[in-house]
Amino acid sequence: MGSKKSYKIAVVPGDGTGPEVIAEGLKVLKAVAASQSIKYELVHYDLGGERYKKTGEIFPDSVLEEFKKFDAIYLGAIGHPDVKPGILEKGILLRMRFELDQYINLRPVKLYPNVPCPLKDKGPKEIDFVVVRENTEGLYTGGGGFLKKGTPDEVAIQESINTRKGVERCLRYAYEYTAKRKKDSKLTLCGKTNVLTYAFDLWERTFKELAKEFPKIKTDYVNVDATCMWMVKNPEWFDVIVTDNMFGDILTDLGAMIQGGMGIAAGGNINPKGVSMFEPIGGSAPKYTGKNVINPLAAICAGGMMLETLGEDKAGKRIEAAVIKLLESGKLKSLDAGKMGMSTSEIGDWLAKNI
Ligand code: IPM
Ligand code: MN
Repeated sequence: MGSKKSYKIAVVPGDGTGPEVIAEGLKVLKAVAASQSIKYELVHYDLGGERYKKTGEIFPDSVLEEFKKFDAIYLGAIGHPDVKPGILEKGILLRMRFELDQYINLRPVKLYPNVPCPLKDKGPKEIDFVVVRENTEGLYTGGGGFLKKGTPDEVAIQESINTRKGVERCLRYAYEYTAKRKKDSKLTLCGKTNVLTYAFDLWERTFKELAKEFPKIKTDYVNVDATCMWMVKNPEWFDVIVTDNMFGDILTDLGAMIQGGMGIAAGGNINPKGVSMFEPIGGSAPKYTGKNVINPLAAICAGGMMLETLGEDKAGKRIEAAVIKLLESGKLKSLDAGKMGMSTSEIGDWLAKNI
């Protein structure tokens, strides 16, 4: 791997602070690529709230077709204060995940040294796990509808779609990822088998079947409510957690908080055989837009994940090492926007220089 001549990367800076954090991510990418002789080519796309306001276009089919020819997509943030919530998120972010079949949402929850953690007596040794979230099914498919909308007899149905194929490929990815990660070789299925007796019956049966193919991996099952509890009380129990789309969405915001906040949490939307997309998991943070105060570390770490997924392991690790070095230096006063003691661009400059 990592032998490709030149990577083609689609860049979608998006809304709010997205462009600012992506600019720093690209700065760091440029530095690491130079040091590792990696060649790449960038094509920028202006998807997001501004384009929608100007042209009414959300995500043209032609752009989607173009994305299929890239090696990866690097995205800042989607969500605009003047656009009704849901339009851009569904029309861009979710559509990209679905149409490019990015069926894994990979979210490492790793507390780096010197990062304040809201959990008492927990440090980097205790907080180091990964959530593998199913990314194309469950409650996110849009299945369901209204009956008698707007009347006193209104019914709203939102269905969770779980297919054997979708569940199995997600679980298989999680088993393989756990084997590769070599921490405790432990995979935890997070569900709700005591109430959601159809969906998580399928998940649990498939989980147990696949376990036979991975005899070296220890398996465990925890209900989602208890998973929240243990993530706060005993996060060291986890190595890899695999779960459905909705539970994964919720768990990973909790995860982001115990690893130091949205400023540092990165995610990958992965199609192992296709085009994957990498993003900081925080939103577009409109109130900080254009002030050079937003934390770019999550976007920079997402860039590192992108390189690792492309097979450029060393380059990815170098980005992580530089981020750790910055955190250890004590230069950053906080990871929260507006309180960092360094500007957005100063962080990017420092990392690019210290790569
Ligand atoms: C995330 C976000 C999205 C999700 C929203 C913006 C649609 O919260 O990436 O976790 O729910 O997946
Ligand atoms: Mn979310």
